[in-house]
Amino acid sequence: MNSKHPSESLTILTDLVLPSETNPLNNLFGGELLARMDRAASIAARRHSRRIVVTASVNHVAFNRAISLGSVVTVEAKVSRSFKSSMEVFIDVWVEDRESGSRTKANEAIYTFVAVDDTGRPVEVPPIVPETELEIQRFDAALRRKQLSLLLAGKIKPSDATELKALFL
Ligand SMILES: CC(C)(COP(=O)(O)OP(=O)(O)OC[C@H]1O[C@@H](n2cnc3c(N)ncnc32)[C@H](O)[C@@H]1OP(=O)(O)O)[C@@H](O)C(=O)NCCC(=O)NCCS
Repeated sequence: MNSKHPSESLTILTDLVLPSETNPLNNLFGGELLARMDRAASIAARRHSRRIVVTASVNHVAFNRAISLGSVVTVEAKVSRSFKSSMEVFIDVWVEDRESGSRTKANEAIYTFVAVDDTGRPVEVPPIVPETELEIQRFDAALRRKQLSLLLAGKIKPSDATELKALFL
């Protein structure tokens, strides 16, 4: 299977925050942001694998800044690493200033998707070759995050989390 680059999966979704999507403080409801991130990330995983993909886990979400009603929000998703059937997808969320047009990073998240066949069984995905410094950093740390996610899900034993253990030695 031919390898691909993270940039080939880049997915950018830009949308407004409407009144029906806000909490009582008039900021974007967390669940709405999670859904937007899931949509963008699933498209990125599909672009990398060209298969049906399902969300396997949401490994990290940081709601660092509230996003107010009327904001223009851009969700950028890119596959950071592929394994056998799973793909880690990094999501960066930006808010655009109305007057200057400058963008501020509001949130980020890391999701894991699995490529599956028509019956829902995992299938292999192409390898990935990172190019930029940030892509290389994210690629290098992805195995550690995969092991942490599997450990927390009770799918591997602590003794099998070799990359995680190496952090503490
Ligand atoms: C995700 C799913 C396909 C995994 O199936 P499975 O029978 O556990 O398959 P496997 O154990 O072979 O795992 C498949 C891959 O997923 C990875 N994976 C499974 N659970 C994971 C988790 N919690 N975190 C990170 N990776 C995970 C495995 O490590 C494996 O990766 P690899 O092939 O790249 O090495 C299956 O659990 C599923 O269909 N879940 C429901 C998905 C869904 O409906 N999502 C929408 C949210 S409601």
